[in-house]
Amino acid sequence: MNPSYKILFVCLGNICRSPSAEAVFRDTLQKAGMAQQIEIDSAGIIGYHEGEAADARMQRHAAQRGYRLTSISRPIRATDFDRFDLVIGMDDQNLRDLRRKMPPRSRAKICKMTDFCVHRSAHEVPDPYYGGAAGFEQVLDLLEDASQGLLQHLQSLLPSEV
Ligand code: 4NP
Repeated sequence: MNPSYKILFVCLGNICRSPSAEAVFRDTLQKAGMAQQIEIDSAGIIGYHEGEAADARMQRHAAQRGYRLTSISRPIRATDFDRFDLVIGMDDQNLRDLRRKMPPRSRAKICKMTDFCVHRSAHEVPDPYYGGAAGFEQVLDLLEDASQGLLQHLQSLLPSEV
């Protein structure tokens, strides 16, 4: 079955938060039996880390919860705003940058990952890059919670698929 819906996760560098969002949400989709219907990818606002694997600290924290981070960093491209249905940023600055980069009349909807939180009431997924271990754990806590809400959102959009 061809994927009927495409989601792009975006953070600043595409080495910490958005690769983790991709891995956590892939796991969420697999557990819900929906991995074939939804295509997911991730990208960065900046291309500074282009070609790099995810940050080693983020990989380690994710692995402790059973997630493998496999994506390679790349910057977002103008064509992504037509290729994807939903572009999901991690913080308010990501959203401002995404709106600035989105070409006029693109079809993607832009939203923020924490919009989908169901149990936690966070406003952003904070950048963990310059902080310690607690920041990486917080990223994963928020992504796991928001992934549940995002799954529910998709199930309501694609009722015939579930
Ligand atoms: P991310 O974290 O946006 O979650 O991938 C960062 C990675 C790199 C940098 C900043 C944030 N940096 O400044 O290089």
